Amino acid sequence: MSSIQQNNKRRILITSALPYANGSIHIGHMLEHIQTDIWTRFQKSRGHQCISVCADDTHGTPIMLRAQKEGISPEAFIAATQEEHIKDFEDFLVCYDNYHSTHSEENREFCELIYNRLNDSGHIAKRTITQLYDPEKQMFLPDRFVKGDCPICGSPDQYGDNCDNCSATYSPTELKNPKSAVSGATPINKDSEHYFFKLTDFEAMLKKWTRDGHIQEQIANKLDEWFETGLQQWDISRDAPYFGFEIPNAPNKYFYVWVDAPIGYMASFKNLCDKRDDLNFDDFWKTDSDAEVHHFIGKDIVYFHTLFWPAMLHGSGFRKPTKVHAHGFLTVDGKKMSKTKGTFIKARTYLKHLSPEYLRYYFMAKLNNRVEDFDLNLDDFVARINSDLVGKYINIASRCANFISKRFDGKLTQGISQHPLIKEFQQASDKIAQAYEDKQYSSAIRDIMALADKANQYIATEEPWVKIKDEATIKQVHEVSSVSLNLFRILTIYLKPAIPSIAKQVEAFLNVKPLTWQDAQNILQEHEINRFKPMVQRIERKHLDAMIEESREEAETANTPQLAEPLKPEIEFSDFDKLDLRIAKIVKAEHVEGAEKLLRLKLDLDGVIKQVFAGIKSAYQPEELEGKLTVMVANLKPRKMRFGLSEGMVLAAGPGGKELWILNPDDGAQPGMRVK
Ligand code: MSP
Ligand code: ZN
Repeated sequence: MSSIQQNNKRRILITSALPYANGSIHIGHMLEHIQTDIWTRFQKSRGHQCISVCADDTHGTPIMLRAQKEGISPEAFIAATQEEHIKDFEDFLVCYDNYHSTHSEENREFCELIYNRLNDSGHIAKRTITQLYDPEKQMFLPDRFVKGDCPICGSPDQYGDNCDNCSATYSPTELKNPKSAVSGATPINKDSEHYFFKLTDFEAMLKKWTRDGHIQEQIANKLDEWFETGLQQWDISRDAPYFGFEIPNAPNKYFYVWVDAPIGYMASFKNLCDKRDDLNFDDFWKTDSDAEVHHFIGKDIVYFHTLFWPAMLHGSGFRKPTKVHAHGFLTVDGKKMSKTKGTFIKARTYLKHLSPEYLRYYFMAKLNNRVEDFDLNLDDFVARINSDLVGKYINIASRCANFISKRFDGKLTQGISQHPLIKEFQQASDKIAQAYEDKQYSSAIRDIMALADKANQYIATEEPWVKIKDEATIKQVHEVSSVSLNLFRILTIYLKPAIPSIAKQVEAFLNVKPLTWQDAQNILQEHEINRFKPMVQRIERKHLDAMIEESREEAETANTPQLAEPLKPEIEFSDFDKLDLRIAKIVKAEHVEGAEKLLRLKLDLDGVIKQVFAGIKSAYQPEELEGKLTVMVANLKPRKMRFGLSEGMVLAAGPGGKELWILNPDDGAQPGMRVK
């Protein structure tokens, strides 16, 4: 029945969608990366040449603005996120052969190459369009950076592309009372020439390609709706300022982030090829390549991967994907992940509380190949891990291992290769492999756990703990335990793509080399094993509750506005009360010889004159200050400075340089008055 052949070595390139570089990885992302990783590990274990790559998606306006806000360069910003993302994936045992960045030389080269080829073949059009422009920030505003009143229902504070209240979609130029979300300024309409990819040129090719087994049927049906509505030209350019790649021969025009993002798959693979002798880029990407390319993506980005991307590849002389595997969105307890509920769980927060393999197993146990949302039900999660992994799977080993260690010198018996259960477990291999191949993971797990049930029933019927007490039946205990541990070993092979680190511990316990799929057809006889140590802990609901609570707290702190310069530790009122703040009149201000920043001020507190050196020279000419009132700390202990005695401090505020303002009271303030 199996349509997959073991001997036929395939070459497979696998990708997950490239996460945006402006946020942390959360468990929604993990739903994708874990299913990709399970598929990759499965294919590798089958002996195929299988390469998985990913990268951070680094370009675009949000990332540019975010870096500006944090006061660092976009390059520094994306480098920091990439490091965090790589660590998150590693700790979830998601193992990419290469994790690159779209902000890379390889990617720039491929973007230019693909664009130039499309342009040379006449697939690029130019025309002038009108867009909203922020006159203060001097930039065009993406839809999400304009807010205003909905043109249909009038609801305030709506984004530029659609209304939360009435669900209307519109163009940002239709918004009433629009405001720039960047500066608050009222945007103006401004013309600019844009570059368009003529998707329509590829309509016939796409209609065929989408019905040729490259995408799930549900997606193909969705595409039919899009074909009916009619394909449009795709705007692929953005004006400066933009963090991205410049379009060749188009100064100040940049590739829209969604142009260079999928090309990032190729760039990451190329970067790997340059590091490895056994890989050749063209073998995988030339039009007649017999290698496979598989993209794993979420349902929200289907349009990009099943229309724009194959058309871009086709038009520029590269092969198209073998398969695009789309999945639904993760929900928690039936609802969209929510920051306030604490169900928007970052990968890192999860890892602080739970082992990555619990989530990997749970995803595997419930995933199928349909494009439907996936519910992480917290109670079910606890029940599933405890009953399947601990109660069924590990239990097989923990029930038998000690007999072997304590009574049979740690050695398995022989003569069991024809045992019917072992045969049955081995024969299940093809069906389980087919389920993996088809991404019917839940069906694979159903079969694997049904086998685990059989192994446990076998042990229960044989009652080795009874038989061990009687000399006449001791030999049977040796057989039951040896058969059971072989069954356990075969189950480990079938589960290994989902639980690679537990499998590694099992390999150490069984004293065997890393297990591959084919190893299920062999068994261990007269083989010495090691002592059994518990490998999976039961989980309790309180572990999950702690994780939810921490996520909630994280969301709260992230929402409290943070000052760029954090506050100093709190002081008591009595500390504050020690300050004697007084209104002072600047009666004289002069330069100080040899001081770069200081002015010498003579301050009059109603007859008492104090001399203060103030670091405000960059902002004020001495003449401007004379006659002004300011606030000073009048009881500061005099300090001897190189230029003379300083008998207090004047209060000033500002970022520095020319922008530094001394406090300037008026409205009836009199020199000498206490400031309260
Ligand atoms: N950068 C683009 C992808 C470019 S691919 C050439 C992007 N990034 S993303 O960070 O927003 O999403 C990355 C992937 O994670 C997408 O496939 C998306 O569907 C998936 N998910 C994001 N949130 C998700 C859930 N809550 N649930 C499941 N998958 C989710 O889109
Ligand atoms: Zn509306």
